[in-house]
Amino acid sequence: MAPHDAGRRSFLKTMAAGAAGTTLSGGMTARSYARIAGANDRVSVGIIGMGRMARGHLNNLLGFEDVQVTAICDVYEPNLAYGLRRADGADGFRDFRALLDREDVDAVVVGSPDHWHALHTVLACQAGKDVYVEKPISLTVAEGRKMVEAAHRYDRVVQVGTQQRSNPIFRQAVEIIHRGDLGEISFVRTWNVSNAYPDGIGSPPDSAPPPDLDWDLWLGPAPRVAFNPNRFGVQLNEQGDYTRWATFRWFWDYAGGMMTDWGVHLLDIVHWAMQVDYPESVSASGGKLLLRDNRETPDTLVATFRYPSFVCTYENRVCNGFPLEGRGYGILFHGTRGTLFVNRQELEVVPEAGSDLQPLASREGRGGHAAHMRDFIDAVKARTQPVCDIETGHRSSSVAMLGNIAYRSGRRIDWDGQRERILGDDYAASLLWKPYRGAWSLDG
Ligand SMILES: NC(=O)c1ccc[n+]([C@@H]2O[C@H](COP(=O)([O-])OP(=O)(O)OC[C@H]3O[C@@H](n4cnc5c(N)ncnc54)[C@H](O)[C@@H]3O)[C@@H](O)[C@H]2O)c1
Repeated sequence: MAPHDAGRRSFLKTMAAGAAGTTLSGGMTARSYARIAGANDRVSVGIIGMGRMARGHLNNLLGFEDVQVTAICDVYEPNLAYGLRRADGADGFRDFRALLDREDVDAVVVGSPDHWHALHTVLACQAGKDVYVEKPISLTVAEGRKMVEAAHRYDRVVQVGTQQRSNPIFRQAVEIIHRGDLGEISFVRTWNVSNAYPDGIGSPPDSAPPPDLDWDLWLGPAPRVAFNPNRFGVQLNEQGDYTRWATFRWFWDYAGGMMTDWGVHLLDIVHWAMQVDYPESVSASGGKLLLRDNRETPDTLVATFRYPSFVCTYENRVCNGFPLEGRGYGILFHGTRGTLFVNRQELEVVPEAGSDLQPLASREGRGGHAAHMRDFIDAVKARTQPVCDIETGHRSSSVAMLGNIAYRSGRRIDWDGQRERILGDDYAASLLWKPYRGAWSLDG
């Protein structure tokens, strides 16, 4: 782990006195909620990465009477300040290790960019915290496995932020499929389409990092590079509100483009509905064909996942927003008796000709964010598995990462999902892990 950089300028006037210079002592340093708190006590929650997604999480947490948000950490002062304004009495931190040292924090929400999820989660587990970690759970498959191991080793509750599992419309879709109403399903299609042509996120030049951002600690385990506004990606207006989703998503060092940003959500439902954990092979084709911006991830991609009994595709277009089946994103399950469409708002069942299946149309979809966080808090208190435990979230994240490995290597990936190995392709296999910078390590 990198040493605390005590000499660094301290922009954080609000940082809890005394905590900033301490180091993580490792092991079960923090109390476990179930061991110490009575049933009526409030769960003390910290947030690491107080960005756009975490704003929603904070809002939901503040709405729970049995939760107190006691600590907030961000390396970007305006986002930290936002959290501290909203969470009355919470302490602020620039360095997450100081937050993890706080024994009174029972659980943390990890809302940092993908390249940080593994370190934040593993070290939080080591420090005895339960964790709600955003999807994709990691940048690489190997990191994800280490997160699963840490959750088990330290006996932690870890919920993955695939909140569609807490949206009743997906539950309804899954029930229909599990009942066998659609017959045998041989093909599943998933997609997101939009049009950002021609300039996408633009191509701002590298520059000095803003004075209120700790760029080195934002990069963390990722390679040291000059600051670029699109790599960092957060853009706030004068009121402090986000003007777009952060664009780190489109750089390989921090994320995996649409394949992992959205693909994980859709493929997570496919795994749940089809009762599978991993494909046996994956191929992909695409490219950055038209957009003239400085993103690295493709603007056009089709990935094909071969499971033992069905084929699944993920399709993403960023330069043409023509919807499939009238919808900009979603999932289609094609069965011998009928087809089911589902996304966050809608569910539709269309019988095959001659089938006695009844048509169905519902627009009862709800976000699922608050319910998913509620499920996490309940699991923390009851010491039970949450709706999307870390192993499940790891499998859903891994399949999307394999899509990217197939795209980046240009090869068909043959996947041993039991051992989590790519067969017969050393280059593709090397993409299952990305070396960390400097002293950052998941191995303590
Ligand atoms: N579940 C969903 O539907 C959903 C939706 C959007 C985003 N997400 C996920 O949430 C995560 C964050 O996405 P976002 O759009 O909110 O990004 P964001 O850039 O707006 O927020 C990330 C925050 O983390 C901070 N950060 C970076 N390094 C840090 C560190 N070492 N310690 C503490 N803070 C650090 C950044 O400064 C920033 O404020 C991503 O993994 C993304 O995939 C999930």
